[in-house]
Amino acid sequence: MKIINANYNGFTHDIIIGNKIFDQLILYLSNNEFRSKLCIITDKNVAHLHLSSLLIELSASKIKTEVLILNPGERTKSWYNLKKIVEWLISNKVERNDYVLSLGGGVIGDLTGFATSIVRRGINIIHMPTTLLAQVDSSIGGKTGINSLKGKNLIGTFHHPSLILSDISFLRTLKRREFLSGYAEAVKKALIKDNDFFSWLEQMDYRGLREENNIVKIIYKSSKIKVKLVQQDEKEKGQRALLNFGHTFAHALESANNYSNNLLHGEAVIIGCCLALKLSREYDLITTKEHKRVINHFKKLNYITEINHIKSSTFNAKNLIDIMQQDKKVHNKKLNFILLKRIGKGIISTNVNMNKVKKILTNSINV
Ligand SMILES: NC(=O)c1ccc[n+]([C@@H]2O[C@H](COP(=O)([O-])OP(=O)(O)OC[C@H]3O[C@@H](n4cnc5c(N)ncnc54)[C@H](O)[C@@H]3O)[C@@H](O)[C@H]2O)c1
Repeated sequence: MKIINANYNGFTHDIIIGNKIFDQLILYLSNNEFRSKLCIITDKNVAHLHLSSLLIELSASKIKTEVLILNPGERTKSWYNLKKIVEWLISNKVERNDYVLSLGGGVIGDLTGFATSIVRRGINIIHMPTTLLAQVDSSIGGKTGINSLKGKNLIGTFHHPSLILSDISFLRTLKRREFLSGYAEAVKKALIKDNDFFSWLEQMDYRGLREENNIVKIIYKSSKIKVKLVQQDEKEKGQRALLNFGHTFAHALESANNYSNNLLHGEAVIIGCCLALKLSREYDLITTKEHKRVINHFKKLNYITEINHIKSSTFNAKNLIDIMQQDKKVHNKKLNFILLKRIGKGIISTNVNMNKVKKILTNSINV
């Protein structure tokens, strides 16, 4: 078991990473004199696979529970479900000092995080992330949110959890596609911050990545990188933006694709990273050799690296750029892009020429 202590301007919490660590939830609740009932929010898939074993352990420790089960998928991050959770928590008489448990991937985490940040002006949340994406990324850093009709994650708050329990036993039931979608957020962190981490990752194939010891290391290293960036810049006024590497493109693709299941978030992030790498080459930043190393690693894992390989969708460059202009990274109508100077060194660029962006998008659509 590994523990990371995150400290954000005096607010601290642990991230516990291990195999079968439900006892850590019970320990935390008993150490914090938890006496009421634990409200758990999850989705149908997770409920089917993992809820009963958790409920058995909680009930053996005499912890009462209430459960709300939502539909799975990105479209669940909506006003409709936010309202549903908020009203459900209030009708369950959840008090400020109670704990709400989010049990699921990034969708459940973002949505429950948002709801808990506004009910009674903020109640405690514990994240039990069940996807690799949520363990290496979305559960950490306090960003919560839902999608607007105009774009992804445009409505939300900052609300840190009291505890994150990254239990790798959940990941055994993740399908290859979901696992690799989550891995995108881990490899992205290596690319922007840690050359040695990337060199270690690039030696592995899919089987290697799924080995338990390797998974623990991937979650630990990724969590450390994210915690450090958030500690330096909690509200994303500067360096935290590095985590958006590939995301300006990815969010536009997801939005233009109507958040459909034929393009998962991490899959969009990989395509976004490939586009951001091409943009970095346009500015003579990353070398051709390093660029190739990254693309080879993505191809070894069978990721889609070009827009026109996304199945049953059509995109056009102008529309994608229009969506990008709505992105949260727009300042004074100018878009910031994250580029790679070299592997392990991301930079924030405020001066990207949009004609270059358009050219890269058009080439990827017509490849
Ligand atoms: N808040 C942040 O900082 C942040 C960072 C990155 C991504 N995100 C958000 O995270 C979301 C994507 O997260 P995600 O990829 O976890 O998506 P998700 O929550 O939709 O989960 C993916 C799928 O896996 C299923 N699932 C969950 N756990 C499982 C398990 N253990 N076994 C089998 N199936 C399981 C889910 O039911 C769902 O169908 C996006 O909305 C993205 O915007 C947020």
